[in-house]
Amino acid sequence: MLHGRRVVLGVGGGIAAYKAVDVCRRLVDAGALVSPVLTASALRFVGATTFSALASERARTSLWESPEVSPHTTLGQRADLVVVAPATARLLAAYAVGLADDLLVSTLLATRAPVVLCPAMHTEMWEHPAVQANVETLSTRGVHVVGPGDGRLAGGDCGPGRLAEPDEIVAACASALAGHRGGDLAGLRVLVTAGGTRERIDAVRFLGNRSSGKQGHALAAEAAARGAEVTLVTTAGLAWPVGVERIEVETAAELEHAVIERSHDADVVVMAAAVADFRPKEAVSTKLHRADGVPEVVLEPTTDILAALAARRRPGQTLVGFAAEHGDPRPGAVEKLRRKGVDLVVGNDVSAPGVGFGHDTNAVVIVGAGGMELNVGPADKRVVARAVLDAVLDHRSAP
Ligand code: CTP
Repeated sequence: MLHGRRVVLGVGGGIAAYKAVDVCRRLVDAGALVSPVLTASALRFVGATTFSALASERARTSLWESPEVSPHTTLGQRADLVVVAPATARLLAAYAVGLADDLLVSTLLATRAPVVLCPAMHTEMWEHPAVQANVETLSTRGVHVVGPGDGRLAGGDCGPGRLAEPDEIVAACASALAGHRGGDLAGLRVLVTAGGTRERIDAVRFLGNRSSGKQGHALAAEAAARGAEVTLVTTAGLAWPVGVERIEVETAAELEHAVIERSHDADVVVMAAAVADFRPKEAVSTKLHRADGVPEVVLEPTTDILAALAARRRPGQTLVGFAAEHGDPRPGAVEKLRRKGVDLVVGNDVSAPGVGFGHDTNAVVIVGAGGMELNVGPADKRVVARAVLDAVLDHRSAP
């Protein structure tokens, strides 16, 4: 469950912070990609370097001194899970009332991922009505609360307030991930394409485009995280989303072959790939040299895979196309929706800053039948993926 998942590990300022080091190590051992976030008081108990050395990346300690302009939204939006150990009385209070006064609470407020809180404090504090009321509020909102246990506390005292054991915390993280959203795509087979195709001119040259595949990979990762059985047909050499069947292709013809073969039993097909509309009629098998003169490359059209899928779609299958436009993407997206006979089209303006090709962020308009129109972003591509899959579910449940 944890393998390949992005986990934000928040560490609060309590003596139990030293045990968070063990939690960090166990999460990493389970294959999670851990982003540690330490509060200012946590740093009085443990060092950031310890977490940086154990985790997959440098520990973050401040809203203001992170590599990202907006670390809380980057962390929150990309996270598959946020776990806080130890969760102090202050953290519980700040999170319960939405007081975003540091990086950790801001991240908690900026995430839609499941959250696991592991309170640890002295018994008197834990049993205080204010703390109990905050825990109650957070539980009602769906936050998972693990512990505290009963046992030895700092200063030799004994009683409720002890941080849950690290293996219990890691198990709670796995089960929170497993139960997230109740797996609202469970039982669906989703086929996603990603990246730009490369059409060979000769042994070393190709006709291509600037698509990075990041949006398609984010869609595959999000669909898998929500319980779908996912196949990703990709040209991109990006990290492999967890639990996803991956098929690597290069050309439009290879992508077409892979998609047509696997579309028979797909409930949802998302064509996020930027597929070439034309390819060289004949590729030269050796390398062309300058001395050979300027080659004449004759182009021929490729199959419009999306239109072909629409023409042969099986009942109950949802088809989603993409439209990379220069300028307002809406007219082009609406036109493709009609022309290709698909259910949804996701349009974006690739001339806008930070949008589309190669970026981690995107801003899209999702259009569908009956004039349905939804603007999403600018936001992380994972957030856009979430919105596209929500639109797919809405479409499938429409009468
Ligand atoms: N697509 C496809 N097969 C192709 C080309 C594109 O399935 N040979 C899909 C893409 O994956 C994407 C959508 O169709 O989902 C994009 O439509 P397309 O017509 O290629 O867009 P453009 O070429 O950008 O626009 P236009 O046709 O208006 O030139």
